[in-house]
Amino acid sequence: MNPRFDPVHGLSGAVTPPADKSISHRAALVGAMCDEPVTVRNFLNAADTRSTLDVVLALGAGVDEREGELVIRGVGLQGAFEPTDGTLDVGNAGTLMRILPGWLAGQPSGRWTLDGDESIRRRPVARVVEPLRSMGAQVEADDDRLPPLTVRGRRLQGIGHTLQVASAQVKTCLIFAGMLASGQTRVTEPTPSRDHTERMLARARAPVERDGLTVRVAATDELELDEVVVPGDPSSAAFLVAAACVVPGSRIVVNDVGLNWTRNGFLRIAERMGAVIVGELEDPPPAWDGGREASATARTGLVPSLDTEPAGELDVCAAPLEATTVVAEEVPLAIDELPLVALLGCFAEGETVVQGAAELRVKETDRIAGVVEGLRGLGADIEATEDGFAVRGSGGLRGGSFDARGDHRLAMLGAVAGLASREGVEVQGMEAVEISYPGFEDDLRGLLEG
Ligand code: S3P
Repeated sequence: MNPRFDPVHGLSGAVTPPADKSISHRAALVGAMCDEPVTVRNFLNAADTRSTLDVVLALGAGVDEREGELVIRGVGLQGAFEPTDGTLDVGNAGTLMRILPGWLAGQPSGRWTLDGDESIRRRPVARVVEPLRSMGAQVEADDDRLPPLTVRGRRLQGIGHTLQVASAQVKTCLIFAGMLASGQTRVTEPTPSRDHTERMLARARAPVERDGLTVRVAATDELELDEVVVPGDPSSAAFLVAAACVVPGSRIVVNDVGLNWTRNGFLRIAERMGAVIVGELEDPPPAWDGGREASATARTGLVPSLDTEPAGELDVCAAPLEATTVVAEEVPLAIDELPLVALLGCFAEGETVVQGAAELRVKETDRIAGVVEGLRGLGADIEATEDGFAVRGSGGLRGGSFDARGDHRLAMLGAVAGLASREGVEVQGMEAVEISYPGFEDDLRGLLEG
């Protein structure tokens, strides 16, 4: 039977979100690249990151689990094994599919085929295939565009590459390859995307430097990482924050959540809409104007060399909401939370618009179609645009049935919509939450008991 999420009168209490998925993927892979064991505290235990651990094991690393901690015994930067049948199963993990080829492409030898579930086979990989080939990599994909993706280890040379779309996955893939390539590799983003890789590699003493929107990386033989402490995932926490924003009378505390400025775009958008959120969000570098005014040249002073991941508490209260427009440069900083901007828009005064977010069409599902059709089915006045959506606040949502389409973030969106609706919402495919947030339903229902 599909779970129902019925209207409630207010959420209260404290909750700790699951560990960050992006940082957990990176911790497992960077741990596998190290020569000495790396302890990872608070590694995310969810389907996507279990896929990464399985892959790391298949590549020859050891993974020991001790009292909630993982110890990764790496194979070194150039020591990835070739498993007997050569296949690596990434499951549903798009991040793993796109960042791992960078490491494998620069191995002295070996051949690996990365494949995954049915959704993975629809996720574009040309964005990593093309720049990797220009580094001299031997990479093949179906029609050069789609998984499965086969990589053979080769000698690589550094390149300068400008990303068409800000993508932390592509940036990470090229940084990994750059550590194994001769000369220097430069990756320039059109606007900033999450920077967990740069921070983790700075801690691992890798020759990675940032200059404005460009990351420079040189070849290295060895990484040294003492330990990684994974903070709570701001993208998972955002579903709880959004619930507290749209259910009148709510006040919740979210503990130990990552506050890295390249991930807190949703919190800033929600605040702009009128939500009351108190927390020590990391500030963007002074040169970043939130994408509203200055040109890219004016932002070249961007990004100091940070190597830590800030984390802390958020205190969130429901308040009347006003519409806003989310512009393209804000999109990478809130990419996985944009479905929630649509939800807040249903409860806001005026028309909320998200622009420049065509990337949503190539996530685990087409998230523009999933959000628009899903929320419209619950009574929202929302329409899709080519690169986003527009929603007119109509005093809330009626309720009904919501199809998660196999997408974890859509499943959580449907559940939160139900709590704030007039008649409740039945979510089809709630089990998709296993991908990033297995305890979601329990955490959400815990906030109903205060
Ligand atoms: C991720 C980057 C984002 C995000 C994804 C995780 C990462 O994707 O949507 O959920 O961990 O690097 P893109 O890099 O494709 O924007």
